[in-house]
Amino acid sequence: TDLDTFVAGLPKAELHLHIEGSLEPEQMFALAQRNGIAIPFGTVEELRAAYSFSRLQDFLDIYYQGADVLRAEDDFRDLALAYFDRAAADNVRHAEIFFDPQTHTDRGVPFDVVMRGLLAGMAEAEGRHGLTSKLILCFLRHLDEDAAFATLKMAEPWVDRLAAVGLDSSEVGHPPEKFARVFERAGAMGLKRVAHAGEEGPPDYVRQALDLLHIDRLDHGNRALEDAALVARLAREKMTLTVCPLSNLKLCVVDHLDTHPMRAMLDAGLRATVNSDDPAYFGGYVNDNFRALAATGRLSRADFVTLAKNSFLGSFLDDATIARHV
Ligand code: HPA
Ligand code: ZN
Repeated sequence: TDLDTFVAGLPKAELHLHIEGSLEPEQMFALAQRNGIAIPFGTVEELRAAYSFSRLQDFLDIYYQGADVLRAEDDFRDLALAYFDRAAADNVRHAEIFFDPQTHTDRGVPFDVVMRGLLAGMAEAEGRHGLTSKLILCFLRHLDEDAAFATLKMAEPWVDRLAAVGLDSSEVGHPPEKFARVFERAGAMGLKRVAHAGEEGPPDYVRQALDLLHIDRLDHGNRALEDAALVARLAREKMTLTVCPLSNLKLCVVDHLDTHPMRAMLDAGLRATVNSDDPAYFGGYVNDNFRALAATGRLSRADFVTLAKNSFLGSFLDDATIARHV
């Protein structure tokens, strides 16, 4: 439809994308072969058929398993380039991508190998498409505080190449307060701070992310809507929410896109954005997410313009660069 074409053509930034979650089954098989690794699926179709989840943990189990094919610097470069090629086709002009170093260092892949590979892919994408990008180092919240501190230590020589730290993986039972001291240290290193909160976890986890982690941006945030005072605060503080509609559907955070909280978020004056989270696992890149929202008929062209502008306003680009984009 016309609205599909309109939303697809909007220039946008992507602010919630796990690079390991952009590993398509075809690339997983190719990297497995290149690295001489056996994977417990016979075909791409068999693997895709396994992507049926009823909660976050179902997905995480298969996502961490998939990342095992990533071993060498070129694997990380090729992974990033494949994502940037797709993003550029969706009119993404800037991307702030998450990576999970602990998933790799715990398998014996050096931190520096991950960094060099991702940075090579980022530089090549900027040359190829003019697509700029930044890196956000995520701590796995199911691991302990000491492990997060050790990861932050590995990041020290690379601090100028990182925009922010983030917090992801199994939310319930791993509240933000567990990482308050790690985030304090990251802030002192000059890094921005973001955290997944309110995807499956309660509104109190969102409040902890604000008060204890001092976040600059909130990833997901769906369950904040259960608390009117919290919603008012997020609006007043102009907090950016990186919302992921198809992810929410696939992980059963919402029952149906027709009842997705995006409408309510915009009505509440929240600075919401549209993102793809783990596109290889959730069935779509950023324009698929925009079109899925368009198909609900509950958002107008003006709403989509707001969402696309919000993605630049909520980015960690400098003000002059943001002004050029919006
Ligand atoms: N939530 C938590 N952790 C994650 C996600 C997510 O949506 N994607 C990758 N790691
Ligand atoms: Zn995520």
